[in-house]
Order: sequence, then structure tokens, then C-alpha cells
Amino acid sequence: MLDIIDIKILDFRDLIESNSNTNLDANFSLHLAYSMKKILVTGGSGYIGSHTVVELLDAGHDVVILDNLSNSGVGVVQRIETISERSVKFIQGDIQDEALLDELFKEHSFDSVIHFAGLKSVAESVAEPERYYQNNVVGSETLFNCMQQNSCNELVFSSSATVYGEPESVPISEGAKLSATNPYGDSKLAVENVLKELNSSNPEWKISILRYFNPVAAHASGMIGEDPNGIPNNLLPYIAQVAVGKLDRLAVFGDDYPTPDGTGIRDYVHVVDLARAHIAALSCIEEGQSPKVYNIGTGQGYSVLEVVQAFEKAAQCKIPYVLEPRRPGDIASCYADASLAMKELGWSAAYGLAQMMEDHWRWQQLNPNGYQ
Ligand code: NAD
Ligand code: UFG
Repeated sequence: MLDIIDIKILDFRDLIESNSNTNLDANFSLHLAYSMKKILVTGGSGYIGSHTVVELLDAGHDVVILDNLSNSGVGVVQRIETISERSVKFIQGDIQDEALLDELFKEHSFDSVIHFAGLKSVAESVAEPERYYQNNVVGSETLFNCMQQNSCNELVFSSSATVYGEPESVPISEGAKLSATNPYGDSKLAVENVLKELNSSNPEWKISILRYFNPVAAHASGMIGEDPNGIPNNLLPYIAQVAVGKLDRLAVFGDDYPTPDGTGIRDYVHVVDLARAHIAALSCIEEGQSPKVYNIGTGQGYSVLEVVQAFEKAAQCKIPYVLEPRRPGDIASCYADASLAMKELGWSAAYGLAQMMEDHWRWQQLNPNGYQ
């Protein structure tokens, strides 16, 4: 890091001396050199992590991925390298492994950490709450302790709109009441609270908490995307597997919600937009007494039936579906007030629903069996 900055400072002075008209370019080089970071990405071979690594590499950052491969395969790393034409270091390991973490921090002197590693299935968390607490909360605490011990205090954390529980009103802003309705949500709230305590005890921490709404779609190349284990729980992967012939029909969970067509409304956000929100968060990250919290969504909600129609248009096929009772724990409507991310990070979603469906479909068509 220091080497690069020194070189660019020399370039900057040389340029000023040789030609005052080049000040702008030189300033730009200086800015770039300062903004390039060495970043540890936990969970970086997963769905959102892999897309974020591509964006980080494109932005010129150096990346080390740490992932225990509990919900991803190592094959994704090669695809990331192909897309970005850059190499990325991959370490198979667990965020709960203190010795490994310490070794990594000592070897790489990371500037920042983007922390995606975690278990994310609501249903699984209800069946195995202790496992979720251990992996998501204790694992995160181990990581934060190690960061502190190695003087790395810059962090972007993956939280979720699930922390809003059953929202009192929509769109949901960051100040809305927080509540967890399942152990997965509990684990996200618990980590957010750990981060608040950490930051108030040491304001040198620079922490950004991103609350994702519903991530969907895939990289435009069709080379990386979401590869769920077994039968998908989430709407988009399920629809895509129906379209490709792996599943017979979609079950629409509930058509009696107080929404215009009776089906649930969510804020679907393109995973590449989401990935870019991390770049924006990193570049704006600053010290403070409490973490900065941002909703990452489009601000626009769509019903299940609207998503089905949009997918049918993108894939040029019919998605057979049956109406079934509500899924326990589901809420009627959830979409973001994403204006704070726009105001403070300069981030807003670029891709609309049609593009999300096209990109999701491309990934599914090119990889009917995921990464296998
Ligand atoms: P993912 O399962 O595809 O990726 C998570 C990665 O973390 C996986 O590769 C997994 O192998 C790894 N991992 C899990 N526990 C680990 C551990 N203890 N040590 C090292 N690696 C570990 O999930 P994703 O969709 O990419 O989600 C990334 C993050 O975003 C998660 O924290 C998730 O809770 C959060 N999030 C996801 C969604 C969503 O709908 N996908 C919504 C809101 C928030
Ligand atoms: N749905 C169906 N049929 C399906 C799957 C989903 O009708 O087979 C409906 C749901 O009832 C809901 C909508 O599609 O109305 C979206 O459901 P998802 O399962 O895709 O997403 P959720 O909003 O339930 O939850 C997701 C993640 C959570 C995360 C939350 C907010 O799974 O982990 O978004 O980020 F917390």
C-alpha cells in the first residue's frame, strides 16, 4: 500500500512541475492510489460475496477470500478470475478459527474486511438455532476481536431487512423499529448490537452495516450466480428452476395478503447493484461513535405474481403455478426507503426488474446445475 502511495505522490509532483494542465489526472491518480485497499472478504465464494469480489477487483482493490465452503464451491474462484482477469487469493477456513485469522491478518495487513460469512436459511435457523448463533454471532465476534488485535478497524457487515421483522409501515427507513422473528434474524440483530458496542467503546472503528432487501439475478456474463443447495426456498431460484424444467411448478404462498393482487410484495435488488453498494460503502467509510446503517434496496416493491410475469417475459416461457396458503412467518409487504444510501453513499440501484429477470435467467440457462 505505502509503496503505491509513495510512487503516485512522486508522479503527482512530477506532473505538476511538467504541466499544470495535468493536475486533474494527477489528482485522480493520487485519489486512486489512496483508495486502493487490501481487503479480506469472508464468505467471498458465496452468492453475494463472489459478485462483490468481482466489483472489488474491477475497482483495483486486492482481495483475499476466506470461506469454509459450507455453502459454496471453490470453482467459483476460477470464474471470478476469468471475469475480472485478475487473480484472487482463496483460503478455505472458518471465521471461528482464531489462529487462522490471526495468521491471515499478520501476513496481509488488511485495510478492511467485508464480512459476508454466515448461514442464511430462516427455516434451518428455526431447526438449529444454536448452530446459527455459534456460526453467525460467535464467529463474527471472533473475527472482530482478531481485527481489533491486528489494528484493522474498517468493516462492512452484511445485515438484512429481516431485522425489521413485521414492519409497521412501508417503505422502511433505517430508523424503523427492529425485531427478529426467527433465530436467523436474531443472529443479524445480535451482530449489529455487537458492532454498536464495539464502536461506542472505540470510535476509531469505521463500520458500515448494509441491510439488504431481496438480492436476485446474476453477473451479466452468466458465469457466477446463486447456486442453492437442494430445493430453493427463495422465489427467484425456484422460478428459474421451474423455467429450466428441474421443478414442475411454483407454489405461490398466499393470495390473501392486503396487497393489490393478494400476493407478497418484496424489494428485489440486482446482486451487481448490491455488490457495488459495498464499494460505495467502503469509499465513504469513516470513524464515528456508531456504525453507519444503510438500507440496500431499489425502493420499489413487486408482488410474487408481478415477478412471475416479468420472468415469463424474460425467459419467453410460461411458469406454471398453484396458489397455496401463506408460508408461516412471511409478511405482506417489505420494501426499502433507500434514500439514505443515495444521500450519503451516492449509491442507488441501476437495474430494474426486467434486467434482473434477464440476468437471472441467463445464469440459470447456462448453468442448469449450478457450479457442478
Ligand atoms: P451464501 O451462503 O451464498 O454465502 C455465504 C458464504 O459464507 C458461503 O460461501 C459459506 O460457505 C460461507 N460461510 C458460512 N459460514 C462460514 C464460516 N463460519 N466461516 C467461513 N465461511 C463461512 O449467502 P449470500 O446470499 O451470499 O449471503 C451473504 C451474506 O448476506 C450472509 O451473511 C447473509 O446472511 C446476508 N444476507 C443474504 C440475503 C440473501 O437473501 N441472499 C439477504 C440479506 C442478507
Ligand atoms: N414465495 C412464494 N413461493 C416460493 C418462495 C417464495 O410464493 O416458493 C414468496 C414469499 O411468500 C414472499 C416472496 O415470494 O412473498 C419472497 O420470498 P423469498 O423467500 O424469496 O424472500 P423473503 O422475503 O421471504 O426472505 C429473503 C431472505 C431472508 C431475508 C429477507 C430480507 O430469504 O433471509 O429476504 O432480506 F431476510
